[in-house]
Formats: sequence, C-alpha cells, structure tokens
Amino acid sequence: MTIAVTAATGALGTHVVNQLIDQLGAESVVALVRNPQKASAFAERGVDVRPFDYSSDVDTLSAQLAGVDSLLLISGNELGQRAAQHKTVIDAAKQAGVAFVAYTSVLNADHSTNPVTGEHLATEQYLAQAGVAYSFLRNGWYNENYLSSVDTARQSHVVLTSAGDGRVASAARADYAAAAVTVLTSEQREVVYELSGDTAWSQADLAAAVAEVIGDDVAVAAVDAAAHREALVGFGLDNAMADFVVGIDTSIEAGDLASTPGQLSNLIGRPTTPLIESLRG
Ligand SMILES: NC(=O)c1ccc[n+]([C@@H]2O[C@H](COP(=O)([O-])OP(=O)(O)OC[C@H]3O[C@@H](n4cnc5c(N)ncnc54)[C@H](OP(=O)(O)O)[C@@H]3O)[C@@H](O)[C@H]2O)c1
Repeated sequence: MTIAVTAATGALGTHVVNQLIDQLGAESVVALVRNPQKASAFAERGVDVRPFDYSSDVDTLSAQLAGVDSLLLISGNELGQRAAQHKTVIDAAKQAGVAFVAYTSVLNADHSTNPVTGEHLATEQYLAQAGVAYSFLRNGWYNENYLSSVDTARQSHVVLTSAGDGRVASAARADYAAAAVTVLTSEQREVVYELSGDTAWSQADLAAAVAEVIGDDVAVAAVDAAAHREALVGFGLDNAMADFVVGIDTSIEAGDLASTPGQLSNLIGRPTTPLIESLRG
C-alpha cells in the first residue's frame, strides 16, 4: 500500500510522514510538497518526495499521484484560496485512481461558527460527491496554537480573550497525526471523525497553565469582542486578521471547539496530550 501526504513539510504533515515511516517503512510513503528543497530530511530517510503545489492544474497534480492508493489531503493555509485548491487536489486524486482520500477538516464542521469553517465545509461537500472513498478528519484546535500565549504572557502577564466561558478541547499536533495514520492504515473507516482532546479547558485553565510554564502570575483579561478587536489592531494586526482572531474567540464562546466525544483518544489508543505538556515545548 502506498500512502501519500500533502503539505508534508508543514508542522502536521511532518508528524504524519515520520509516523508513517516508523509504522510502514519509507518505501510505502510519498511526501507531496510545495517546495522539495524543504523536504531533504524525508528524502534522506528514503521517502519518495514529489512536488505538489495546490495551485497547479489537475493534470499536473494527477501525474504526481501515480501509484498512490491512499491520500491524506492536509488543508492548506492560504485563506480564501483553499476551497478551490482542495477541489483541484480532489479532482486530481480521482483522475489518478486514488482509492481513498482523508481530509483534515475542522471540529463540528457541519455547524461550527468558526471563521475557518466555510472552506472546510466546501471541501467536505466536494469530496463527498467526488466518487472516491473518503473520511473527514475534523480536527479540533492544536495545543500548540497557545504557544504564542506563553510568549505574550512573559511580557504582559495576561491572557487576553473574548471567549467568555467558552472551553477548548485541544490536543497536540502529534495526536492528530497519529489519528490520521490510524485511519490511513485501517481497512475499517468511518466517514466522519470528530477529533479533539480529552479535556475541555477554560480560559482560567489556560492562564493557569501559562503561569506554570513561565513561573509567574498570569491573569485572564476578559473583554468583549469590540474591545478585543480594538486591542488587536492596537498591537498591529490588520483589520481582517483582527476580525479573524475575534471570530475564533466568538466561536469558542459558542462552544464550537469544546466537544469531547473521545474519538481521538480511541483512535490513537492512549489519552491525548495535555495542554501544559505542549506549552512546555
Ligand atoms: N487545528 C488547528 O488548530 C489548526 C491551526 C492552524 C492551521 N490549521 C489547518 O491545518 C493545516 C495543517 O496545520 P499545520 O500546523 O501543519 O500548518 P502549517 O505548518 O502552516 O503547514 C501548512 C502547510 O500547507 C502547505 N501549503 C500551503 N499552501 C500550499 C499550496 N498552495 N500547495 C501546497 N502546499 C501548500 C505549506 O507548504 P510549505 O511547507 O511549503 O509552506 C505547509 O506545508 C493548516 O494548513 C491549516 O489548514 C489547523
């Protein structure tokens, strides 16, 4: 079985490729990368590294998928372009005769108000009608998203949030990677996996974890969305990015990232990584 991973030089993709090599051997793994020069470590381990830019056309991408049985399509990070890019990849997979595609979506994609949801849902809907077997890996938030809170708190001693009482069931990237590997290497698959950490933490829990890591006091600075936006613009974010960040906190307040169905720990056969462990770096 040959398994290919897109965006393989990204943080999540790197975990997935390394775990696949450990489990199956390098000869079963194809790393699809935008920039092959960034993938020298994979090539040195014996992985077949192929150029794969989501902005290419279907024929170009289809040729790069020759001989691939299963594909992990990791969502890109060029906001606003991703739905179109992912559709091209799905068309290419179908044209190349790939038997199974797993797509990294977002937790609760069918009803989440998270600003990233639209592009994920569009991709899910396109994949569902493509005529290829598929799974949606609806990933919750990464623990590592909060490493920036540690850096900021060293100066400010606060965690700034407009998420109110909202909770986040985050897990480490390595956990989500292990789940992807389980699904890719399994014969029995679900269509939808809602993947999240075992524990949904509050903003106070986040502040406590950050305080423990920096060894100093950290308080929650709870503000409303308008004040949060104003503060972010004051820190130098442009309006669109400030709206995006505030939109995420509004979605967290609504509970969109708080689900704890336990599917991630079930898939990986162990508890998910606690937030503080990832924040210690
Ligand atoms: N669940 C969460 O908390 C969370 C947080 C942030 C992002 N995400 C989503 O999850 C994805 C994976 O997370 P991550 O941490 O691995 O993100 P990351 O480190 O930013 O990696 C993004 C990857 O997408 C690749 N990429 C971007 N545009 C591309 C294109 N046009 N063609 C081919 N590859 C392209 C990048 O290629 P290069 O290596 O060449 O740059 C990179 O490998 C992200 O892209 C984003 O969609 C999820």
